[in-house]
Amino acid sequence: MPLIAPSLLSADFLNLQADCTMLNESEADWYHLDVMDGRFVPNISFGPMLIECFRKATSKTCDVHLMIEEPEKYTEQFKKAGADILSVHIEACRHLHRNIQQIKSLGMKAGVAVTPHTPVTALSDILGDIDLVCLMSVNPGFGGQKFIPYTLQKIKQLRQMIDERGLNVLIEIDGGVTLENAPSILAAGADVLVAGNTVFRAPDPKAMIRELKQL
Ligand code: DX5
Ligand code: ZN
Repeated sequence: MPLIAPSLLSADFLNLQADCTMLNESEADWYHLDVMDGRFVPNISFGPMLIECFRKATSKTCDVHLMIEEPEKYTEQFKKAGADILSVHIEACRHLHRNIQQIKSLGMKAGVAVTPHTPVTALSDILGDIDLVCLMSVNPGFGGQKFIPYTLQKIKQLRQMIDERGLNVLIEIDGGVTLENAPSILAAGADVLVAGNTVFRAPDPKAMIRELKQL
């Protein structure tokens, strides 16, 4: 069974309490929380203040995806806000190994996110040190974009790299996941499905989460 991580970027920000209650009652495994700084990506979303609110609203795992430059400056703040998993972009880190150690030393699980253009082979040295790879299947910055098909090849390649070394690293697919493409994403070897629009624009979000979970 895949882990399902709805992205709150697509939630109703005037009714976050209702969306949190819906998620808490659902079979969703994680809250996927997208932090954007307007520098690494051409959009600004939210930061530690709102994550602290989500933390109070749920006992589910808070999976924080940082799409920001110089993430090392904010790692402690996100820990304090209640992040369980913190992912930084390989493209935003000059000293990725140091950033990962910093995240782990604060007691969080560490993830590395990669944009569609970054080859998964760039992860080979860091793979033994991390808990999760957030493989982006759209260019980061916005919800509701279309899944980039060659991601499937990247999932297979990454799966092989992880399995060959017997590592315990989760593959999370982020961007454009739908009920239609999720089966091939899982068949390629993914463990975690992020879904924003697919969940929050569904007529019955809870039923959609259940359907994704049962794939
Ligand atoms: C995009 C974010 C994604 C996004 C997913 O930059 O990282 O998590 O919110 O939304 P959908 O599922 O709508 O593509
Ligand atoms: Zn994300």
